[in-house]
Amino acid sequence: MSQQVTFHDHKPKESNLYSAILYGFSQSAKTIPPKFFYNERGSRLFDEICDQPEYYLPDAEKTVLNRCVNEIAEITGENRVIFEPGAGNLSKIRLLLDVLKPIAYVPMDISSDFLKSAAAGLAGDYPWLPIHAACVDFTHSLPLPEAVPDKPRLAFFPGSSLGNFHRAEAKEFLLMIRQALGREGMLLIGVDTKKSVSVLNAAYNDAAGITAKFNLNLLWRIRHELQAECEPDNFDHHAFYNRDEGRIEMHLVSQREQAVRINGHRFSFDPGETVQTECSYKYAPEEFLALATDAGLQPIKHWLAKDELFAVYLLGVSAWEV
Ligand code: AVJ
Repeated sequence: MSQQVTFHDHKPKESNLYSAILYGFSQSAKTIPPKFFYNERGSRLFDEICDQPEYYLPDAEKTVLNRCVNEIAEITGENRVIFEPGAGNLSKIRLLLDVLKPIAYVPMDISSDFLKSAAAGLAGDYPWLPIHAACVDFTHSLPLPEAVPDKPRLAFFPGSSLGNFHRAEAKEFLLMIRQALGREGMLLIGVDTKKSVSVLNAAYNDAAGITAKFNLNLLWRIRHELQAECEPDNFDHHAFYNRDEGRIEMHLVSQREQAVRINGHRFSFDPGETVQTECSYKYAPEEFLALATDAGLQPIKHWLAKDELFAVYLLGVSAWEV
């Protein structure tokens, strides 16, 4: 890698699959935290999800960002340090770089090899941009490398990644962002909106079956990485909008009575029993703005996609504390 890119491996211990599965499979309602989707294969499958016609989020968000990027730059100014938790394939930041002209960019992701290659690719296309890639579990901490210049910060958190947090956790996370931002910091965040149930359900049940593969990849990880006795083919993908909770839920449903064996531990599954693998909360703009305000962030401006399909918010740090 060139000097333009530095890599900071915080070796997120929270990314330990074994302990997470032992814990999650011991609960009466079994769960796996969604961050385990994103091994190398899972990160690639997520990119494929983003290309599915039913998964409207990325296109809606990109259209909004393209439309408002100049306005954003007028408010934020240039030469900020931009950090992006869960940066993935680094495609969205490309929409901003030429206009926002950051002094440095800090992509953060749990998937170390995927992050390294994405950072190298970005460096090739933006030779003027210092990149400090950090392998971290952003649900736990947001460490910025020491070498990052002391300039006002901009957190970029697109893709409705916030949706993976339950409401109380979402507030905690926004508080953590505010902490990482400091006094003059701003947050640019993309959040999915509430909309018709059929549009939502289709987005998480694409006809090509990519989301199903993405979901079942968790069981393949368990089988291969933990040398477990586990038959992914005996489970089904199930995703639906839970209107009362305002969220998409993804589950793996056991087709039959079966057991998964991991290193001497045995976990039994009843027919139809599910493992919840993801929640994806949807926020009406007024709901999100109330949550953000609650977390000490000050709404500056927001932009909606056509038919309010998606929302992008720019927020500042409230003056009352930091
Ligand atoms: C990356 C959490 C925003 O919830 O829409 C996509 C993940 N899961 N399809 C989302 C996901 C199934 C995605 N986020």
